[in-house]
Amino acid sequence: MTGLTVGKMAVMFAFGLGGLVLSALSVSADHAEGDKASGATVYNGTCVACHADNGKGAFPGVPNFTKRKGPLAKSDHELALNIITGFQSPGSMMPMPAKGGDPNLTEQNVMDVIAYLRSAFGKK
Ligand code: HEC
Repeated sequence: MTGLTVGKMAVMFAFGLGGLVLSALSVSADHAEGDKASGATVYNGTCVACHADNGKGAFPGVPNFTKRKGPLAKSDHELALNIITGFQSPGSMMPMPAKGGDPNLTEQNVMDVIAYLRSAFGKK
């Protein structure tokens, strides 16, 4: 195999992967039917230590989900991306770990926990 062919294949592979990830994410954003009951289980297992029962954050640097212009003002899609890949706002002292530090969380878990965040802490 020539170097050129290998290079081409790597590029095709990279695009293929990117396409897969993108389509997986857009699928879940389109069908944002998270289940808040199973989301509560995810929250209380993985997120509560930092985000607290009341969603206001267990320590400084953790955002308050109940604030009107807080994180929940963002779209499900953006929240899902930030939860899945991790998130650090400019100048923040502490990052949000990818998937809250639990690599076993599925995309469905993430959509569920977003539904829970909105029902428990979102604008009523
Ligand atoms: C180790 C502590 C920790 C854990 C565990 C954790 N978070 Fe976070 N989270 C943070 C911190 C800190 C931030 C703010 C980061 C910043 O602004 O730089 C944050 C930010 C967020 C945001 C705001 C993102 C945005 O776009 O503004 C969401 C949503 C969120 N977390 C959801 C979750 C969910 C859901 C879980 C559980 C699956 C979770 N977090 C687990 C610490 C944590």
